[in-house]
Amino acid sequence: MFTFRRRTLSRLIFITFFGLFLRWLLSPPPTHSKSQSHQIVEHNFIERATRPDKSLNVKRHPFLQSRMGRDERDDMFSALIQDGARDYWERFQLPYIINKDTASTDAQHVLTAIDQLLSLNGWVAALCPTLTRPFGQNKREGAYDDLIRENHLYYIAIVIHSADHFLVDQLAVIVQMAKRLGTDNLFVSMLDYDSNDSTETLTDLCEAVLTLLGVPFRIRRVPGMTQDPSAAYYPLEEAHMRNLALEPLQELQLKRNIKFARVIWLKGFTCPNDILETIKISFANEAAMVCGMDWAEHNGFFIFSDRWRTRDIEGDQFRQSKSSSKPDAVPPRDKQGAIRYAQHLPFQVFCCESGTHVVDPSQSYYKGVSYRSGTDYQNLSRSESVGLREPDAPCLDSSQAWFCRDLWVRSARDAMNEVDLANGAAAMRKRDVIEVAARDPMMDGALKARRDAGAAAVPVKPRDAVKVQVGSGEEEVNDDATDRRKKGKADEDANAGSDYDAMSVEDGGEIVPPPEVGRLSIPNSVFRPARILVNPRCPTTYAGVSHTQLARDLFGEGDDDALHIVGKYVLEDWEGAPESFVCQEQRQTGGRKATKTQRRLGFSIHDELQRPPV
Ligand SMILES: *[C@@H]1O[C@H](CO)[C@@H](O)[C@H](O)[C@H]1NC(C)=O
Ligand SMILES: *[C@@H]1O[C@H](CO)[C@@H](O)[C@H](O)[C@H]1NC(C)=O
Repeated sequence: MFTFRRRTLSRLIFITFFGLFLRWLLSPPPTHSKSQSHQIVEHNFIERATRPDKSLNVKRHPFLQSRMGRDERDDMFSALIQDGARDYWERFQLPYIINKDTASTDAQHVLTAIDQLLSLNGWVAALCPTLTRPFGQNKREGAYDDLIRENHLYYIAIVIHSADHFLVDQLAVIVQMAKRLGTDNLFVSMLDYDSNDSTETLTDLCEAVLTLLGVPFRIRRVPGMTQDPSAAYYPLEEAHMRNLALEPLQELQLKRNIKFARVIWLKGFTCPNDILETIKISFANEAAMVCGMDWAEHNGFFIFSDRWRTRDIEGDQFRQSKSSSKPDAVPPRDKQGAIRYAQHLPFQVFCCESGTHVVDPSQSYYKGVSYRSGTDYQNLSRSESVGLREPDAPCLDSSQAWFCRDLWVRSARDAMNEVDLANGAAAMRKRDVIEVAARDPMMDGALKARRDAGAAAVPVKPRDAVKVQVGSGEEEVNDDATDRRKKGKADEDANAGSDYDAMSVEDGGEIVPPPEVGRLSIPNSVFRPARILVNPRCPTTYAGVSHTQLARDLFGEGDDDALHIVGKYVLEDWEGAPESFVCQEQRQTGGRKATKTQRRLGFSIHDELQRPPV
């Protein structure tokens, strides 16, 4: 069981002081040009004419390490800290720097100190190599050598919204990743959204460590979108935060033509090896997005946590299952998903986020897909009258849910454009859609098989009534979850992950009637599917979770026979989008805790394609 023991606490205090010292040491004297220093410099004329430098080398390009929006005002401790740091420097450092040689020894001391601090000793991450994983991935040496040899560029994005308790462990994970993948192959983007805990100090520490290790970064603090947090619309904030965290990604492409192979969104705590494996799965499947799974602890159980944003391939909400759930009560409700989940294999979903997830920017951000949210929410601060919403009005759900739908539509549109280009056809009429999609070489195997079997028009999969049957074990968990919600513990957000806003059964959280939609004239299954997967071998957890027990619940005692499963990474058959999904929406402002309502909503890719691209 991971607890903040005294030793850990004193280490944290030490690190913080160390960080402050480094910051003091490294911070340049205040200059007027500082406000410009975050800007990524464009290739100049000569560089453009010759071979432009596309490296992420921070020694050559200091603008690759920048800090924005830090509160530089003096506070009551400023003088104390400055005096202490100067004293330390003058008495313990300066006298020993005699010439150039000793100066570099000194740098070595600092690096060794950081290494020791972040060797994961004492942190949650220290447990990672000992945790049970299927297919012996933790035991095999060099399991990721191939991946590392590829020398891809990775963009690590973190959004911190008053969640300082993960940050040091996340930093440890980043350092581990930098060690394995190379410090020149990463860019770290941290966005502090209006945190009022110790995030600010800890981002100082991150800045110091990343600077010393030579990892490029941008650490940025921004104010909240609204003065009064209860006047905020959470999905809008989500989209805003994420797009800001992606700004350096866009700038590096625009100004220096640097493209990243994958974007890794770090949330909660995930072990470095599990992230590497998720990246591997992402490449093997050419996936647009691969998510981990998010587990929160409650009363000695672990329950699947991110039910607000995750939908299985039939559009249903995941169950709030225990990590030890029986096969008929596992998180994904669809049959294929449940089977593959039980085998610890990646399975296709309609949407996910659930903790740390890996996105292919070439299928999304570089194509102009960004995060957004619904707009016709009701602002309670304005006491305006509520307009009646149509039953099929757009879903006012999370910005990740919008992002997933955008990925599905984007994928369909791209496939059509590619075929379009290949045929040299200038314009394409909407009624050609079916035919075009059928000619699409990238189309999923399942559909091809169905078509080859002589099905002229692909039949719409008859949808079972929404499945509400839950295992006996699970109901118990739901009760607990409800209790917990009713108690409204203060730090609930911290330990329940991103699901703290999911609804209980009593509130209509589980039973969603089928939508009032007819069958689609052009089924979603004819369009090229978006490749969105969940990797059940990548658990994301929170402070207070017993990682060892969770790993045992999920994966048993390690089963090396499975090593021989062929294609354990690759999904052969890709399904089309579901024709309806569970829409859990926030119709009103009220911050993160605003009430949610639920309905089932139709989803027609053909209809979406009629709208102008976003
Ligand atoms: C910020 O601090 C106040 C109390 O000072 C607290 O009520 C509020 O919830 C905090 N906000 C966040 C986002 O943590
Ligand atoms: C809601 O209205 C208030 C008052 O006009 C405004 O300050 C706030 O920004 C609005 N919130 C959103 C999310 O639009």
